[in-house]
Amino acid sequence: MHSDTDRLLPASPITSLADHFAAGGGRGLARAQELGPAGVCEVLDAAGLRGRGGAGFPTARKWRGVAATARTGGGEVTLVVNAAEGEPGTYKDRTLITDQPYALLEGICIALATTGAATAHIGIKEKFVTPVQRLSEALAEVREAGWPHADRIDLVNGPDAYLFGEESAMLEVIEGNLPLPRIVKPFEAGLQATTATANPTVVNNVETLSHVPAILANGADWFREAGTEDSPGTMVFTVVGDVASPGVYELSLGTPLRTLLEDIAGATEIKAVYGGVSNAVITEELLDTPLCFDAMQQAGSGLGSGGFIVYDTSRSIVDVMSVLLNFLAVESCGQCNACKLGNTAMAELLAKVQRGEAQQTDLESLLRWSQTVTDSNRCYLPVGSQLLVGSTVQAFVDELVDTVDAGVPTPADLPTPLIEHIDEDSGEVTYHERYHLKQLDWSYADEDPGKLRLEGLRDG
Ligand SMILES: Cc1cc2nc3c(=O)[nH]c(=O)nc-3n(C[C@H](O)[C@H](O)[C@H](O)COP(=O)(O)O)c2cc1C
Ligand code: SF4
Repeated sequence: MHSDTDRLLPASPITSLADHFAAGGGRGLARAQELGPAGVCEVLDAAGLRGRGGAGFPTARKWRGVAATARTGGGEVTLVVNAAEGEPGTYKDRTLITDQPYALLEGICIALATTGAATAHIGIKEKFVTPVQRLSEALAEVREAGWPHADRIDLVNGPDAYLFGEESAMLEVIEGNLPLPRIVKPFEAGLQATTATANPTVVNNVETLSHVPAILANGADWFREAGTEDSPGTMVFTVVGDVASPGVYELSLGTPLRTLLEDIAGATEIKAVYGGVSNAVITEELLDTPLCFDAMQQAGSGLGSGGFIVYDTSRSIVDVMSVLLNFLAVESCGQCNACKLGNTAMAELLAKVQRGEAQQTDLESLLRWSQTVTDSNRCYLPVGSQLLVGSTVQAFVDELVDTVDAGVPTPADLPTPLIEHIDEDSGEVTYHERYHLKQLDWSYADEDPGKLRLEGLRDG
């Protein structure tokens, strides 16, 4: 699962605090104490650390921002660590937590001291049993060892919902509610905010915080030895789907996507690649794009959280779109009508194409829904749907038109690529086993009505 450029992922799991120290851990925390908050932010700025949770936002700017909002808007700063890892095709945060939880905890202690946050809540799915257990054990160890601020860190178990990872929805969960995104962003109004106290909250991804100790210990220039000018350092990537060696790989940013997918993960005959469900499709001619935030965006897609789902030329693009759109339709929370209705309508239209019942006008409807699905959106989820549908229809229009013309049922057997587990030794990937039963209201059906309908048609 690892490569020569490993910086975060150890060759074998770090199983105790003593192992962490033996591997050079602890120096980042010591250096942060010497530098103080302003000095820490300067080093992170010089290193160019950008968030690894999806948007690539500069970490130091985020940390300075919450401190400034607390001064003007009042209240306490809080740190929220995003360990929800709900993006399809992503498994790096659980790998980091399981194999090296001390780097994350060291990063959290540094973030607490630098932002002046009173508390750090680690939002993690209750169903991630092994990472939760590993993190709890490591937290007990660092508390016992007297790490500064470690007694102000706690774990918050969250639901098995995509939106739990959306930063404002995570605040709702921490406050004891459902994961429903808020209008106001956490850095403006955070946990338990009132009109009188902004309580700005900084939300950071697990990998982002895990990079912090080594940057402080080794310096900004060391971090920049890997990566590119705009995307320095390494990133931990996940690759699943039609590849010979699925897994989690740490690489220098700037490495061509083709190297990751073909040379490392063993993909051949690539037809379509998705960086989670929040980005446009990547087709064969874009595979030489460097893995950096800006280049991926210029190519019309995005780096996302570094998880790639690969589909080869044996796949029906309708099946691919259908499984990804079904996920977005189910996970949309329905606070914004255009999002729930639009995603559901698009998922239904694709199911109609799969059943062989669609007309060409249904493809036009699909595109129309993709244009309005973002109307009055509170969060980014429907932007992902828009990018995904718009780009896939554009890239595979001939196949879609021919499939509709043929008017016969097409394959409907792809799993939703929500990763449950990747076995480090065998590389075997297990996906969420019950996802096909999850319904639009987030409850689970006893049996799959969609599949049965398709199978019934075929039988008939
Ligand atoms: C629908 C949705 C789901 C998200 N899921 C995750 C997630 O599982 N983990 C994560 O770190 N960020 C997720 N994000 C991004 C977070 O909202 C947030 O931007 C991120 O945690 C910031 O951390 P960073 O600055 O360290 O990258 C999601 C965003 C959206 C819109
Ligand atoms: S945009 Fe969609 S997922 Fe986001 S809050 Fe609105 S309905 Fe919910």
